[in-house]
Amino acid sequence: MSYQTEYLNSLKDPEGFWAEQAKRIDWYRPADKILSTDQDGLYRWYQGAMTNTSYLALDNHVENGRGDQVALYYDSPVTQTKASFTYREMRDEVARIAGGLKKLGVQKGDTVIIYMPMIPQAVMSMLACARLGAVHSVVFGGFAPHELAIRIDDAKPKVLITASSGIEVDRIIPYKPMVDKAMELANYKPEKVVIYQRKLGALVPSKNYDVDFDQMLAEADTVGCVPVEATDPLYILYTSGTTGKPKGVVRDNGGHAVALRYSMEAIYGIKPGDVYWAASDIGWVVGHSYIVYAPLLTGATTVLFEGKPIRTPDASTFWRIISEYKVKVMFTAPTAIRAIRKEDPQGNFIKQYDLSSLKYQFLAGERCDVDTLKWLQSQLGVPVIDHWWQTESGWPMLANFPGIELLPIKPGSVSKPVAGYDLQILAEDGSLVSPMEEGYVAVKLPLPPGCLPSLWNNAQGFKDSYLERFPGYYFSGDGGFKDEEGFTFITGRVDDVINVAGHRLSTVEMEEIVAAHPAVAECAVIGANDSLKGQIPMALVVCNQDSKTFHEVAEEIVAAVRSEIGAVAALKKVYQVQRLPKTRSGKTLRKLLRAIVNGEEIKIPSTIDDPAIVQEIDEIIHPSIKQITS
Ligand code: COA
Ligand code: AMP
Repeated sequence: MSYQTEYLNSLKDPEGFWAEQAKRIDWYRPADKILSTDQDGLYRWYQGAMTNTSYLALDNHVENGRGDQVALYYDSPVTQTKASFTYREMRDEVARIAGGLKKLGVQKGDTVIIYMPMIPQAVMSMLACARLGAVHSVVFGGFAPHELAIRIDDAKPKVLITASSGIEVDRIIPYKPMVDKAMELANYKPEKVVIYQRKLGALVPSKNYDVDFDQMLAEADTVGCVPVEATDPLYILYTSGTTGKPKGVVRDNGGHAVALRYSMEAIYGIKPGDVYWAASDIGWVVGHSYIVYAPLLTGATTVLFEGKPIRTPDASTFWRIISEYKVKVMFTAPTAIRAIRKEDPQGNFIKQYDLSSLKYQFLAGERCDVDTLKWLQSQLGVPVIDHWWQTESGWPMLANFPGIELLPIKPGSVSKPVAGYDLQILAEDGSLVSPMEEGYVAVKLPLPPGCLPSLWNNAQGFKDSYLERFPGYYFSGDGGFKDEEGFTFITGRVDDVINVAGHRLSTVEMEEIVAAHPAVAECAVIGANDSLKGQIPMALVVCNQDSKTFHEVAEEIVAAVRSEIGAVAALKKVYQVQRLPKTRSGKTLRKLLRAIVNGEEIKIPSTIDDPAIVQEIDEIIHPSIKQITS
């Protein structure tokens, strides 16, 4: 079947299409209705069906003869450790962790926060929650205690699972003191904190809520899978939005399993038994979907990599892993490739490895510049596929389809919509734009299975954030255009979200922290283009009279963002400016600021009809900011 036929079928008869795809799943009970709406008027898939995601990811494969196949390779250059787990071993370990959590009182519907480095126990803890019908929320290890506390207060976890430490290249990151700090900061208090002791030297005094992970397992029985409704939540994943507070994206069980299973074959061309590697982190959606759930739901083998593309120990690591585990498809962020290319521009490391197993290289998470894509394509000699999606969708929205039909690769484009996504480019007034005209990227409702049904305990927030802007559509927050042949190009976020090294962050959240500094009268945090990380945050600050030098103020601002959000925020550039461009009502013109610092042509919005403001921007503000930041 051609891509076009598959795609059109999915739009002509969504229920028929997704009823067919649901046959890939071994349900405990099939759905009463393929598509329905819930009490909030939101679309839901597979109502009435019963399943268990952990069963589908592990037990089902053991029952069907894959017990001895490796489910997960763990490769950790930072601890010089390698391990592998068969499907049977994973199932047994997960069943025991689930037994331990059950003993701590975790039941179906309870929430559990997982704040762990990239170790097998983290993946197994996610699956153990799923086994109990509990809802996990993984928090990225690079977030600081304050961020963890915000998520604790929103998710209200019964238990928090962590590890004694992580490792960033050559630096131990002690997680436990950060958890203790978050426990102090949060208003809601989880009953227990389960700690996996990595024995890397990061020991801290224990608290009365502590439970040792190994001890918990030693005292636990294995437990079976608890059937849940297809529409029950599997996990919450917090992501940055346009306010200072992260949004709790909810994923259900049934639609998620069907969509991921479909994506592995149609998009990635992966079959049961193949080896698939997503070099991301379980704290991000790519990690949830393509390190943990999709490969395991498919009966493939996944790779869990605890390291970096460079410095662990060098720019050869990715190629070693592909060659060592015979990876068929690899997925990473363009930043990782840019970092590798900087260290090894001639691709000398690449030539040292047998990469014949690799059939496709996928990129996503941020915009991929054409130069990087072409470099990688020439080095690897396989199709390099840039594809586009978000935490909210949980799986690709625009992609190429090696499993159905490999479309021509147009560098700079993220190709065409995936089955189920009626993706359109809209003008300001919601009408469709013409080819080559830039607009807002939106998807006509209903979204396909796997996409977020709502936000955690916040259906109104879901409607306000995504459905209100263009009635009848889900609005992605991205801008883009389609060419005459329907290939889509993403031009970037049209809101205050930025992507730093493939990590999604909110400038508003950073701005709140910068503004809280006593020397700051007003400020703006914006995304500046960066040749390695794609974007980096930059703070422009107007100061009050203060006894400190600006250098001291800037250092304190950098430290404050690092301690409130975490090192991953990477705010290092802070500039003092005399004035910020504003509307008459006092609204900062962020889009204009972005254009100034990125050296683009500036357009003063037509809504600014005050000639004095226009003149001030043109003659004073623009040249001075340009000079300071360039
Ligand atoms: N735990 C604790 N700290 C973390 C962390 C984690 N899990 N992840 C990142 N950090 C820290 C880093 O150590 C760094 O701290 P520093 O400022 O003290 O050096 C800071 O957060 C910024 O990290 P990062 O943006 O990753 O920069 P880097 O210089 O350490 O590494 C790259 C640069 C290019 C190697 C790295 O950004 C990378 O691998 N990018 C690819 C990202 C990716 O795969 N994203 C997944 C999305 S699909
Ligand atoms: P996240 O939710 O962290 O996956 O980030 C999603 C955002 O990253 C999207 O809204 C885009 O702005 C950006 N993004 C992801 N993939 C791509 C891509 N291939 N090209 C351009 N931007 C991308």
